[in-house]
Amino acid sequence: MSVTIVIGGQWGDEGKGKITDSLAAHADMVVRPNGSANAGHTVQTDAGTFKLHLVPSGILYPDCDCVIGAGVAVDPASLIEEIDELNSRGINTSRVMISDRATVILPYHPIIDQLEENQRGDHSIGTTLKGNGPAYADKVGRRGLRLADMTDERSFVDRLHVVLEEKNQLLTKVYGSAALDESEILEQYAAYMERLAPHIVQAEVVVQDAIDAGKRILIEGAQATLLDIDYGSYPYVTSTSPTAAGACQGSGVGPCQVDRTIGVYKAYITRVGGGPFPTEEHDDRGEVIRQRGKEFGTTTGRPRRTGWFDGPAARYAARINGLSEVALTKLDILDEFDQIPVCVGYRSNGEFIDNPVASALRYGEVEPVYEYLEGWQQDTSGAQKMDDLPPQAQRYIERIEELIGRPVTYIGIGPSRSQILERGVKV
Ligand code: GDP
Ligand code: IMO
Ligand code: MG
Repeated sequence: MSVTIVIGGQWGDEGKGKITDSLAAHADMVVRPNGSANAGHTVQTDAGTFKLHLVPSGILYPDCDCVIGAGVAVDPASLIEEIDELNSRGINTSRVMISDRATVILPYHPIIDQLEENQRGDHSIGTTLKGNGPAYADKVGRRGLRLADMTDERSFVDRLHVVLEEKNQLLTKVYGSAALDESEILEQYAAYMERLAPHIVQAEVVVQDAIDAGKRILIEGAQATLLDIDYGSYPYVTSTSPTAAGACQGSGVGPCQVDRTIGVYKAYITRVGGGPFPTEEHDDRGEVIRQRGKEFGTTTGRPRRTGWFDGPAARYAARINGLSEVALTKLDILDEFDQIPVCVGYRSNGEFIDNPVASALRYGEVEPVYEYLEGWQQDTSGAQKMDDLPPQAQRYIERIEELIGRPVTYIGIGPSRSQILERGVKV
């Protein structure tokens, strides 16, 4: 038995897709536990670049099963589009399995997502507008529709009728927006269900059977710890638990069944959307990171906010996830700098603190305390082993390791599948 969790240690887009794809060379199954099409995971191979939103990043290996767990909010149209795109590129998607317990994104969810964002005005979260928040709110409020409800026409018709009545009242009476047509939704989603039916399974049973059979399983988290509904910079967060615990819950795996938990971190940090960001860099160097790192959203194309590695936030994430190790990506993006600031703590009201604070307002006011590490000003993207990295880059990795408090076992030095250095632990 071997279960490895891969999760984001920062504000997302750390390279979870790339790390999962690399590890999936030795996996039998990859499970996606949370999130929706708000995620964008990039995998770059000789066959080209793949931007995955719902399909797990094991799909490029023909023998790897790909499971979308109960904790995911599935937008059927988006999933079908993704499957079609993969098929058109010669990838067999019959191995994609979707939990019958997964909640479904319905047409009113993205509409409400947009209306709620408009309502927030200057305090908008900057959501991906995929309907993620409203879909999870309905799930927790027990107004959600799950795939299992929709594949049975009787429950689909009954449940939608009740829920849509309430949604249409909200749309028309609160937001002054147009009502949605029930029969249109029924017809559209019946067609989606027919298409997805061969993929719908009892995913948690499939996963547990795989564990019993001694298969190697990877759980690929979406979003990241600092976007967590409880531990992130609330309310500037997503609506799930993108932590190791959430990964267990969303895939139907118990904590004691997990062998390794790998936190993926960039060698710097980025954030898309609103919310506190203590180490954000507004000057030219922030732009250099954005351009060199191609820091534009995989799902929305929005420019990502960029900044320096945030040690306290990284260590906090490592602790609440109980990480066993770290994959540090995008080291190559820092190749140009002569000096690299690294945040080792914050100053808040004159006091030194070394954890993110709960209040978004207060967290937005903390001042980063920097240590300045020597840059290497050399191209690292062609390194074949750790020793090929300049001593300053090795020192940088060691310092990050000290700040996170966990061993760095993988180092990303470029976007392609082969641009990864392994250090220590074997896959
Ligand atoms: P995810 O959401 O965590 O899977 O990350 P994204 O795919 O949204 O964003 C990460 C971006 O960085 C993608 O464009 C990757 O191709 C790219 N990437 C991943 N690792 C590295 C790396 O080590 N170096 C460079 N230059 N790019 C990387
Ligand atoms: P991956 O898996 C980066 C951010 C949004 C917004 C907040 C809430 O690719 O790392 P939501 O649509 O979830 O309600 O938006 O969360 N966000 C992400 N940022 N990477 C992601 O996913 C994200 N998924 C959501 O930008 O600030
Ligand atoms: Mg992403």
